[in-house]
Amino acid sequence: MRSFVPIGAALLGISSVALAAQAKCSLTQKCPESAPCCSQYGECGVGAYCLGGCDPRMSFSLDACVPEPQCESRVMKMDSLDRMISADKYLGDASEADWVYQGNPLVYNDEAVLLTMPAKSVGTVLSSTVYMWYGNVKATFKTSRGAGVITAFILMSDVKDEIDYEFVGADLKIAQTNYYFQGILDWHNSGNISLSDTYENYHTYEIQWTPDSITWLVDGQVGRVKKKSDTWNATSNQWEFPQTPSRVGLSIWPGGASSNAQGTIDWAGGPIDWNSADIKNYGYDFATFKDVEIECYNASSGAGTNNKVSYTFNNIAATNNTIVNGKDSTVLKSFQGTGLDMDAGSSSASSSAAGSSATDTNTVPGGSSSGPGSGPADNSGSGSGSGSDSGSTTGTAAGCSSTGFSQSCDSSGSGSSKSDGGRVAVGGERVFGASAFAVVVAFAGMLML
Ligand SMILES: *[C@@H]1O[C@H](CO)[C@@H](O)[C@H](O)[C@H]1NC(C)=O
Ligand SMILES: *[C@@H]1O[C@H](CO)[C@@H](O)[C@H](O)[C@H]1NC(C)=O
Ligand SMILES: *[C@@H]1O[C@H](CO)[C@@H](O)[C@H](O)[C@H]1NC(C)=O
Ligand SMILES: *[C@@H]1O[C@H](CO)[C@@H](O)[C@H](O)[C@H]1NC(C)=O
Repeated sequence: MRSFVPIGAALLGISSVALAAQAKCSLTQKCPESAPCCSQYGECGVGAYCLGGCDPRMSFSLDACVPEPQCESRVMKMDSLDRMISADKYLGDASEADWVYQGNPLVYNDEAVLLTMPAKSVGTVLSSTVYMWYGNVKATFKTSRGAGVITAFILMSDVKDEIDYEFVGADLKIAQTNYYFQGILDWHNSGNISLSDTYENYHTYEIQWTPDSITWLVDGQVGRVKKKSDTWNATSNQWEFPQTPSRVGLSIWPGGASSNAQGTIDWAGGPIDWNSADIKNYGYDFATFKDVEIECYNASSGAGTNNKVSYTFNNIAATNNTIVNGKDSTVLKSFQGTGLDMDAGSSSASSSAAGSSATDTNTVPGGSSSGPGSGPADNSGSGSGSGSDSGSTTGTAAGCSSTGFSQSCDSSGSGSSKSDGGRVAVGGERVFGASAFAVVVAFAGMLML
């Protein structure tokens, strides 16, 4: 029973979870033109569905996803929420924020940001607004603790290339490392690095990613190296090595939630204790992030360049030679927009376009529910000033993000809420407000069956 599952592949698994009125997408089933963007959850929509996590291979066309903001070297002091924006407010302008969040980040003592996981929630995830196409990224943090609680620091691309650090709260002396190519499962790619107690001590975790290798370093010391030259798969005729622009992800999630399969719970160190010392003392389990630094790769041409505006894919193969570093804009005018019509829904656009078809289309994956009403609610939070939309539906998407990712934010406007106390639902039930990493847990379990 192995539980190392690429987060990207796991997210796709969510397509087997019934979400009413949402078109599913996969490599063999692309999204329809009316909802052209395939989110990381494997569901079709517009707006935020076309931003971070939008998989061009599974979308209506390669250009349905909005171009990815190119790498920009950033030193991010994690001592306020000023540069963090909720997923239901972000339209793709990476100059406006360093991080997009789902869940509950909190400032601690003006010196760190806590990613929190209150009892029976699915935790918190931050995703960088810029993408890295190779380069170095490092983060200084203390992990969460306790059986079933996972802390993660990862790179993940929109086609599900992945480079990971993961920490199991039941074993505070080990950093687990892993990598994936396009979300393909391979049980042999993980490796452990030993270190002193990760809950008590800040450590600096670094990923140095070049076209030829991945190096994982802890406190400046090399813990693991993986060379691309060792990843050739002669059967599939490809380098199974991460090679596409990736967002940085930071998260805490409940690997030991009882809705997960036994294999996942075992990997996570056992069932999660929603009555843990940290929950009793502080109201939540948490991971403490201090500094994160992105240093872009230096290439002046070819793979790894970042001297224009954005990245797009020009071929469904989604390998290193299919990325275009170009000048396309990355910013939508509203949550009705897509890569095919970036201006849709703006006040200056024709009003007929934003009519009935817009309101029954999903606009924020994972962070709000589908159905009539969710579109306008999302829109009201976008700052686009569409006043007529705002009234009746506040408390769905917006309320969700301000109160955290518990099931209490699953209001679909149609009374279909089936709260089970905040667990990630699998097997035919709706999943609400799940962070990327929590959804993984659900599907990781399904894979183990
Ligand atoms: C890493 O450590 C965990 C225990 O924390 C263990 O279950 C796993 O097998 C180890 N993986 C490798 C590749 O050694
Ligand atoms: C190589 O690719 C084939 C075909 O996609 C796959 O079945 C196999 O598991 C891969 N081998 C490894 C070691 O990943
Ligand atoms: C970029 O180039 C500078 C100067 O040559 C070097 O110090 C730095 O390590 C390089 N960064 C990366 C990510 O390759
Ligand atoms: C893509 O990777 C292959 C294999 O490592 C390499 O030969 C090729 O030069 C790379 N292409 C680009 C554009 O960097």
